[in-house]
Amino acid sequence: MADAKKYTERDFSKVRGLNGLSNGQIEEHLKLYAGYVKRTNALTERLFGMCNDGKASGADPVYAELTRRMGFEYNGMILHEYYFGNMTPGAQPEPPAGGKLRKALEASFGKYETWVADFRAVGTMPGVGWACLYQDPSTGWLSNHWITLHNDGNPAGFTPILVMDGWEHAFMRDYHVVLVEDCVAAPTKEEHEATLHNMRTYFGHVVDSTTLMSVWQSGGRS
Ligand SMILES: [Fe+2]
Repeated sequence: MADAKKYTERDFSKVRGLNGLSNGQIEEHLKLYAGYVKRTNALTERLFGMCNDGKASGADPVYAELTRRMGFEYNGMILHEYYFGNMTPGAQPEPPAGGKLRKALEASFGKYETWVADFRAVGTMPGVGWACLYQDPSTGWLSNHWITLHNDGNPAGFTPILVMDGWEHAFMRDYHVVLVEDCVAAPTKEEHEATLHNMRTYFGHVVDSTTLMSVWQSGGRS
């Protein structure tokens, strides 16, 4: 019997010193990527085991939901690898005029600026997901796409050219998110506490108004 395939976390230690994304943000994000690799392997092993035990059945809700979940975890792993693989410290902010990518963008969008405007529009759409530039291998045409979560909207067989993570976790650490706990409210005390816990754990800092005022009055030095 063949063994279940196992994916290995890729090394992105060279993705540091970027313009616009701090090292701390990248390091937090890489931990999240590691989770996708781990869960993809766990799901692969579980589904492989069910298949080999003759328990694969579309009528089994457990098998069906694990299989559906695979699309989310697997694409989460792969898209993050394209994303981190995209980024190099000191890279030029734009593809050089006359270069291969620039020419391909101009061929598909008319003008480079038109592509930029379209990619920005896709990247600022509400919701969690990705803005991606793909190439259709059958025509060579380039097009921008919105990928909801990680798995909804990937054009089958297209080649990713530029992959941008639009989930808040990709940039929020650099925005110094602060929630002032005694200036917000929820319908119940439990919901309020749960929100504070969520914010503190995943999104940023939770402080009270006295602390915030003292930081402001000290010019941000405390
Ligand atoms: Fe991400």
